[in-house]
Amino acid sequence: MFAAQAIDISDKAAFYRDLAKQLKALLEGEHDSIANAANTAALIFQMVPDLNWAGFYFLASDEELVLGPFQGKPACVRIAVGQGVCGTAVELGTSMLIKDVHDFPGHIACDAASRSELVVLLEDEEGVFGVLDLDSPLPGRFDSADQAGIEALAAIYVAASSFQD
Ligand code: SME
Repeated sequence: MFAAQAIDISDKAAFYRDLAKQLKALLEGEHDSIANAANTAALIFQMVPDLNWAGFYFLASDEELVLGPFQGKPACVRIAVGQGVCGTAVELGTSMLIKDVHDFPGHIACDAASRSELVVLLEDEEGVFGVLDLDSPLPGRFDSADQAGIEALAAIYVAASSFQD
């Protein structure tokens, strides 16, 4: 049985280094991309404070993201590339760190409680194929240290998993 170990978050870089080790241990020996996404979302939701949603969207085509494994309230299933924070991340090919979602035109509110959002890309040698999305009920919850830490976790998830075209 895998039991996540509590980590002190006062040093965010150290927190995410430790969480990365735990994620590697959790995914070790398993390549199923859905199972690994489910456990990655569960670990993040359990360990990262002040989240109300954590999960995956995968590109179903060049134009559309479809909901993957997540923790939190039920969410919108399909997001067009270029729409919302997730679709904008894919269109621009960059992570999105939104301090206040009320200030982001086109933000898609799956949970009215969400106030800040961090979206990082899932990418392999063939390019971007999805996003990992975190929401918080606290405005300004995420900073560049969270972005770097979550990008590292997304990379661990991609490296551990097999994806079929
Ligand atoms: N807020 C996202 C939609 C997904 S939910 O937050 C789970 C967006 O604007 O793309």
